[in-house]
Amino acid sequence: MKNIILTGDRPTGNLHIGHFVGSVRTRLKIQEKGDYEKFYIMIADTQALTDNAKNVDKVTNSVIQVVLDYLSAGIDPEKTCIFIQSLVPELFEITSYFMNLVSVARLKRNPTVKSEIGMRGFENTIPAGFLCYPISQAADILAFNANIIPVGNDQLPMIEQTREIASTFNSTYGEVFTLPKAVLPEIKACERLPGTDGKLKMSKSVGNCIYLKDSPEEIKQKIMSAYTDPDHIKVSDPGKIEGNIVFIYLDAFCKDEHFAKYLPEYKNLDELKAHYQRGGLGDVKVKLFLNNIMQEVLAPIRERRAYYEQNIDKIYQMLFKNSEEASKEARKTLENMKEKMALNYKEIAKKA
Ligand code: TRP
Repeated sequence: MKNIILTGDRPTGNLHIGHFVGSVRTRLKIQEKGDYEKFYIMIADTQALTDNAKNVDKVTNSVIQVVLDYLSAGIDPEKTCIFIQSLVPELFEITSYFMNLVSVARLKRNPTVKSEIGMRGFENTIPAGFLCYPISQAADILAFNANIIPVGNDQLPMIEQTREIASTFNSTYGEVFTLPKAVLPEIKACERLPGTDGKLKMSKSVGNCIYLKDSPEEIKQKIMSAYTDPDHIKVSDPGKIEGNIVFIYLDAFCKDEHFAKYLPEYKNLDELKAHYQRGGLGDVKVKLFLNNIMQEVLAPIRERRAYYEQNIDKIYQMLFKNSEEASKEARKTLENMKEKMALNYKEIAKKA
């Protein structure tokens, strides 16, 4: 079987380096390998609205920003199908049928949804749409019969729920769906890159993100003020690398060749870490090294962005065309589902 890949992001702001290492980089690898029949990248605007009902503008304005970030990062519109969720209405019809196959108790158990409810202070005011977004996400995936879902580890509960819904549908009505599999980033540090302040997640509202579109000055300023080891006061003090943002980012971005280029006293990251832990290596030196690497990674992305920003109209046309194509594909699945469910009044009328 040829792979059908589907992944997506909620458009609530620009993409940051957490998105880059957590999912965009995996997508670039998949794109380069080309071992797929279809590669969908969905802008999940409807999902973003589940906790932004009063901020529709924020969501709609972010759609083009996220697409610009994708294209600048190297996602090739010739090799992928980038589309907008709300322009594929079949997804919501599919969601309706799936809703009946999932209990409210099961929805409340989803660990990612649980922690998001806590973070948003939704305890007694959870929008029904928010609680149900994993069902709608299952529809996003199953509408295309996608078998490979490249995501960060916070999305594992969604994939798990998608598999449950797929098998419940199959056993209730007849085989329609293959069970999808999540693909996580290869490097552990990349599964959930913490913010520059050392807090768990990069989040726009906290202001602890390095964005793909940041200027060289912004990147440097954010790196130079990043959280390290608060007990590493003098250069001679032994330092901790666990929880140290600068080393976590190095884990995510540094390659041996960066040492040859920017810090030839060390051969690799293990040597640098050992020196830091022993004592005698100052934060500023490590931060400047990280800054060199980040500037090298982000410069070409910024340059490509300047080009795509001149072509916004063409990008919208591409999104509309792709969304129509996605809609046709989702329609086939929907028809197939209804047939299996015997929800077909033309057939029923013929027999009457
Ligand atoms: N939940 C994802 C996020 O928060 C976005 C998303 C929506 C998604 N539908 C998807 C991801 C389907 C993978 C597959 O970023």
